[in-house]
Amino acid sequence: MSNPEILTPPMIDKMRAACQLAADTLLMVGEKLRAGMTTNEIDVLVHDYTLANGAYPSPLNYKGFPKSVCTSPNEVVCHGIPSKRVLNEGDIVNVDVTSYLPAKHGWHGDTSATFYVGEPSEDAKKVTEIARRSLELGIAVVKDGARIGDIGAAIQEYAEKAGCSVVREYVGHGIGREFHTAPQVPHYFDAKQNKRMKAGWVFTIEPMINLGDWRTEELADGWTVITKDRSLSAQFEHTLLVTRTGCEVLTSRRSVLRQSEDKPWSALGPLSTAAAFAAQQPAQPATEAAAG
Ligand code: MF3
Ligand code: CO
Ligand code: CO
Repeated sequence: MSNPEILTPPMIDKMRAACQLAADTLLMVGEKLRAGMTTNEIDVLVHDYTLANGAYPSPLNYKGFPKSVCTSPNEVVCHGIPSKRVLNEGDIVNVDVTSYLPAKHGWHGDTSATFYVGEPSEDAKKVTEIARRSLELGIAVVKDGARIGDIGAAIQEYAEKAGCSVVREYVGHGIGREFHTAPQVPHYFDAKQNKRMKAGWVFTIEPMINLGDWRTEELADGWTVITKDRSLSAQFEHTLLVTRTGCEVLTSRRSVLRQSEDKPWSALGPLSTAAAFAAQQPAQPATEAAAG
């Protein structure tokens, strides 16, 4: 694979716009999601919102993918095709949005989150919150000069100690004018991943965390990936810009993601969900800051 591109400031502005639209689309899904809804209804919401905002939904017709968004409930790991499947109370569902803005000659912004449909089981909470924190820990590693492999090492160390497993067959990826490009970003430790990140690279981190075994299988539709043992799987994804001091989360959200990071038990970190994290913190007395 060719070397990752280093983006210039004008290119970064365009990437940021595509990424912010993808983030806003996820916020919109969080407002509308209900038990009893089909995943096809999520597809229509994402499709219409994307077009109304001057963008094209990257998944639609990508290598033959038939819909505008990936919806992956419960045992579905990723690349779920929206269908007549009904979301029931107690389910979890990952919604993976990629926006191509502008709709012609644009840039791709890629972000996903796992939502709770109604009240979750303890198992659903566990796998979802470990996936949320895994992404946060991966983001914390990103900085000019850090190794790509350090991301997967941090995620695997945490997720396995917490009693879950990390999917291997699907990885994060470079993104920009193309949907999937160099570098590949595994979410498990791989000694071969010793390349150092450079300021100006843009890539995703998108750990898929299983409650049971890490192995997966693909359904006959050629897309849907499920856990081999049918255990629950959860995923979160952000698109990141590497900087000299760390990274910018290009798909960071301007407000709290409903039915996901608004839950009192959600394991928020300050990096990927700045707005939600700030909302959770106790208010600082103004005088204290002045006195310091
Ligand atoms: N958004 C997915 C990712 O994170 C890719 C989906 S490809 C599709 O890389 F064709 F299934 F949409
Ligand atoms: Co992606
Ligand atoms: Co994605």
